[in-house]
Amino acid sequence: MADTLTVTDNRTGKSYELPIQDGTIKAMDLRQIKTGPDDFGLMTYDPAFMNTANCRSRITYIDGDKGILLYRGYPIEQLAEHSDYLETAYLILYGELPTDGQLQSWRREITLHTMLHENVKKFMDGFQYDAHPMGILLSTVGALSTVNRDAKNIFDKTTRMRQILRLIAKVPSIAAYAYRHSIGRPYNNPDNDLSFTGNFLNMLFKMTELKYKPHPVLERALDVLFILHADHEQNCSTTTMRTIGSSQADPYSAFAGAAAALYGPLHGGANEAVLRMLTEIGSLNHVPDFIAKVKSGEAGSRLMGFGHRVYKSYDPRAKQIKKIADMVFEVTGKNPLLDIALELERIALQDDYFVKRKLYPNVDFYSGLIYQAMGFPTEMFPVLFAIPRTVGWMAQWEEMLLDPDQKIARPRQIYLGSEARDYVARDQRK
Ligand code: CMC
Repeated sequence: MADTLTVTDNRTGKSYELPIQDGTIKAMDLRQIKTGPDDFGLMTYDPAFMNTANCRSRITYIDGDKGILLYRGYPIEQLAEHSDYLETAYLILYGELPTDGQLQSWRREITLHTMLHENVKKFMDGFQYDAHPMGILLSTVGALSTVNRDAKNIFDKTTRMRQILRLIAKVPSIAAYAYRHSIGRPYNNPDNDLSFTGNFLNMLFKMTELKYKPHPVLERALDVLFILHADHEQNCSTTTMRTIGSSQADPYSAFAGAAAALYGPLHGGANEAVLRMLTEIGSLNHVPDFIAKVKSGEAGSRLMGFGHRVYKSYDPRAKQIKKIADMVFEVTGKNPLLDIALELERIALQDDYFVKRKLYPNVDFYSGLIYQAMGFPTEMFPVLFAIPRTVGWMAQWEEMLLDPDQKIARPRQIYLGSEARDYVARDQRK
């Protein structure tokens, strides 16, 4: 059996044999299909990249029909059970689980980079007291490119790795400062005796005590949530990271763009939108009306936290998150909105509208309930998505830079506007 595709152009009667590799044909192989020498050649039309692979990647694998998610081949369920965020971050970045020695030096290196330059605090001070923390995070990380001028040296391995370490380490510090800024409290310095997540909780919540002690269950729960959010192959924000990176911009600027893409309610902003939706529904007896509103498509309303471009079954991250919810609520008490979420899920999973469209809970459906129970304000939720996703963006960015197949991202268009015409003087326009 030949690994080729034979295409017959019925406009000309000509046939072409196109190679198939890894289940794909190259879009550029279509360009030879022309009706004549002046014809530009055939292109594909694929808004939103519904069926276009943009890269070859070795980082994350998803089987959307079976609900499988692997980082570098390791199932997400096993990592959630046995690993921690920093170890998983190492795995995502380097491709293998670290040895003891590698893990120790990796933790030490990340810890060394958690401090922020005093200037960074000053420009964070300039934000309005009620600025959205995600806006603060993405602008501040973008501004780090002005502080770390060496970051432009993207093809130097050592410099590149320094920026990656800085970003993984400093994003939680910036996120915590954004939160402290919004509540008008002084910034807490990092405490490098604590774990990655323990320290983050310390920077957020430490008050007058000399030493902050994170609750071990909440610290572990947040760490597992970070594992579950660490990468998710070619989603909207990762594609943005790769696209900006393809112009050879520095990683801070590309991160700012990726975080902006994550901010939207259809992507990482969905966890915030879910909480607002549950609060608006307010009580169990309003659930049927809300479901009816979603089904009628009224004012574009959607069941936030449901549906996914790739998963056409239960999102494996959502399954893990439901387990974490039980663990957290034992400590914090149950989030009163949980019953509304469970009822929405129960109805949706048996309703024809959702079943036919294969709409299941995604990663954002239950995570907000946990974050809220842990004391995070709703506006911090997308920030809590961005912190662990940093490593995914970095790994994907580096893979793109080192991939000889990649060039500056530059899609084509189908032009449907006016043909060339002469300028019309202002007094002669109709
Ligand atoms: N509620 C109601 N209907 C929906 C929903 C939803 N959440 N999601 C999709 N649909 C319907 C949609 O109206 C369409 O129906 P029809 O065929 O009659 O026009 C059909 O399902 C297919 O939807 P689509 O918009 O073509 O699917 P997509 O792959 O372009 O969108 C999505 C994927 C995630 C943007 C979408 O499911 C959605 O808006 N979900 C709510 C927002 C959300 O939870 N986002 C987080 C995604 S997971 C975390 C992440 O990656 O950031």
